[in-house]
Amino acid sequence: LFNKKNISYELDQDNIPGHIAFIMDGNGRWAKKRKMPRTYGHHEGTKTIRKIALEANRLGVKAMTVYAFSTENFKRDINEVNYIFKLPKEFFDLYLKELIENNVQLRYIGHLEMAPKETRDIIEKAISQTSQNTGLILTFAFIYGGRDEIVETTKELCQQCLDGKISVDNINEDYFEKHLMTTDLPPVDLMIRTSGEYRLSNFMLWQLAYAEFVFTDIHWPAFDETELHRCIAIYQGRERRFGGVLK
Ligand code: IPE
Ligand code: IPE
Ligand code: MG
Repeated sequence: LFNKKNISYELDQDNIPGHIAFIMDGNGRWAKKRKMPRTYGHHEGTKTIRKIALEANRLGVKAMTVYAFSTENFKRDINEVNYIFKLPKEFFDLYLKELIENNVQLRYIGHLEMAPKETRDIIEKAISQTSQNTGLILTFAFIYGGRDEIVETTKELCQQCLDGKISVDNINEDYFEKHLMTTDLPPVDLMIRTSGEYRLSNFMLWQLAYAEFVFTDIHWPAFDETELHRCIAIYQGRERRFGGVLK
């Protein structure tokens, strides 16, 4: 039983989602409400990533994936994009040590090669420093798009066919899935989108095929442990059927 601000949610320890994917939305609106620039919302949002990763780890969640920058987010003002590209350094300078102490493993999915060298270096360093950790796998979807991921995988498998490594008949759902950017991550059980939008915005299109969706009006910088518990409690109340019929 968790208790905070007099609100508590009783969570079933045997039904904790193995993989939670977050669409971290609402940083800009959160800042605007406080008469602050959008970038301040992104800055505050990184604190939420730390808080929620530590809590997910404590709850025994195996994997957490956060949508940090989409392939479409390049449409934004260059100053906002540049600011977001500086956040990994800020994040890892402040929290990498603590994440390592908590046995968290870091990964990314997306086109890191399109990021500035300093951003790339800091993320690659965090990944190599945590590659042996066995706790929560925290994956940053950074310069990531779900359609792009499927196209990239398709191209890779076409190349394998052309190179004679596999034949067309070797391609099936399992093989395809293993070659997605998420490779061996556990299936996504729960997708949480903050800030009141009811869409996927090109996030994990393949992986979310049978995930449960929970939408909350809370903006990402204000999302906290209690709200995470509430979302998991909603998930635990759902009946997952995977196309079958419940006995
Ligand atoms: C999510 O917050 C962070 C990114 C997309 C990088 P937004 O920046 O989308 O905030 P809103 O939706 O404009 O409030
Ligand atoms: C999705 O949020 C992308 C991230 C959270 C990184 P957006 O704010 O970019 O999505 P739309 O534009 O509202 O669909
Ligand atoms: Mg948004």
